[in-house]
Amino acid sequence: MPANIVVGTQWGDEGKGKIIDILASRADVVVRSQGGNNAGHTVVNNGEVYKLHLIPSGILYPNTLCLIGAGVVLDPKDFIGELDSLEARGISTANLKVDPRAHIVMPWHIALDGLSEEFRGNSDIGTTKRGIGPTYMDKYERCGIRMYDLVNPEVLAAKIKSTGTLKNKIITEVYGGEAFDLDKVTEEYTAYGQRLAKYMDDVSVLTFNASKDGKTIMFEGAQATLLDIDFGTYPYVTSSHPLSAGVCVGTGVGPKVITNIIGVAKAYTTRVGKGPFPTELDDEIGDQIRNLGGEFGTTTGRPRRTGWFDAVIVRHSVRVNGLDSLAINKLDTLSGIGTLKICVAYKMPDGSVIENFPPTLEALEGCEPVYEEFEGFGEDISKCTSFDELPENCRKYIKRLEELVGCPVKMVGIGPDRSQILER
Ligand code: GDP
Ligand code: IMO
Ligand code: MG
Repeated sequence: MPANIVVGTQWGDEGKGKIIDILASRADVVVRSQGGNNAGHTVVNNGEVYKLHLIPSGILYPNTLCLIGAGVVLDPKDFIGELDSLEARGISTANLKVDPRAHIVMPWHIALDGLSEEFRGNSDIGTTKRGIGPTYMDKYERCGIRMYDLVNPEVLAAKIKSTGTLKNKIITEVYGGEAFDLDKVTEEYTAYGQRLAKYMDDVSVLTFNASKDGKTIMFEGAQATLLDIDFGTYPYVTSSHPLSAGVCVGTGVGPKVITNIIGVAKAYTTRVGKGPFPTELDDEIGDQIRNLGGEFGTTTGRPRRTGWFDAVIVRHSVRVNGLDSLAINKLDTLSGIGTLKICVAYKMPDGSVIENFPPTLEALEGCEPVYEEFEGFGEDISKCTSFDELPENCRKYIKRLEELVGCPVKMVGIGPDRSQILER
């Protein structure tokens, strides 16, 4: 009966994969509902590291049904690579299903992602260049190729011919790029379709039935609230709805199925790609957090920008996602920093102080964070076994944080491993 959503509350990489993996031990079904292989979710079990991009983080449990919903955009080449690498490590993918409605990332989407970023020059978004934006563009333009088409060779060939011809024209005539050989693309993608046909199933029906049968469901968010196309830092966002509300449209279930919404945050803030970041640290502490926290992108390897915990953005996430509780990861990374800071509000250029995240880039760019300071902690907390065992300064930090964002913290991450979580 319980259906939980796990959603990112900052700019991604909060450790959603780890939380899903932990909760998946008590779940029957794990569902991805949006985004694509721009996501990189890390699961660590006894020193074994798994980096998942498209496949739900429940895959390590042999009896968990793992579903990829209609709202996901799927790169079949990368997906097959991920399937193969899991199977080579002895992980079964027999319980994995993809909705026939999911849109397929085609090679021109990847090319156009790169070309449009190049065209933007200094105003680029800093995308993952996985073709995510261009694939969603085609979906809304109503000329996309879907999973269902991929496994139907005649339909696929016709769609590649019509869409591919137009894409080649745009690539060569607008951007001066190189055209794709459409016969080769057809051959390659037909082979992917044959390989993937056995994974296709109606995820809306499977999820609905699981809910009706009293099964426990976990919805695994990708990206995060501040990367949402409407409620993030537009245009420095992704092209989907990573919010809790996006789960229903991305899976094909009604909102009444959902019983619990968990937000994941880091004990500080990170961001990859461009865009405003009010609490960013361009100093030694920022470098220390990056190095100790291993803050390098799971998908692109780019160094992540680092900064203090921003209660204004997490407060925004609590509201727009309707969070029931928070999981705060990477508290261990803050060990050894003399004074910790939390941003509690933004001071605007006219002197006013705001507590709600502003809707425009202009407002964000002019704002200055207002900080509360906390005495840090020097202890290694990675082996603590309960919240009460944490140093007093750690507990004070978490308690103030939950007051400031208006949501209880029920899990605290003290290391990357599955076992390094304190539940309250
Ligand atoms: P996701 O995209 O939200 O699933 O997060 P990523 O996997 O991209 O990035 C989170 C990184 O932090 C991964 O390398 C995790 O193994 C690691 N991690 C998660 N939780 C913790 C924690 O509590 N402490 C530490 N030190 N690392 C963590
Ligand atoms: P997970 O699920 C962090 C960022 C990119 C870029 C912007 C748009 O691992 O938290 P896109 O390729 O989606 O068009 O890029 O969004 N981005 C992420 N940042 N974690 C992610 O996923 C991200 N997925 C996209 O860096 O700024
Ligand atoms: Mg990630």
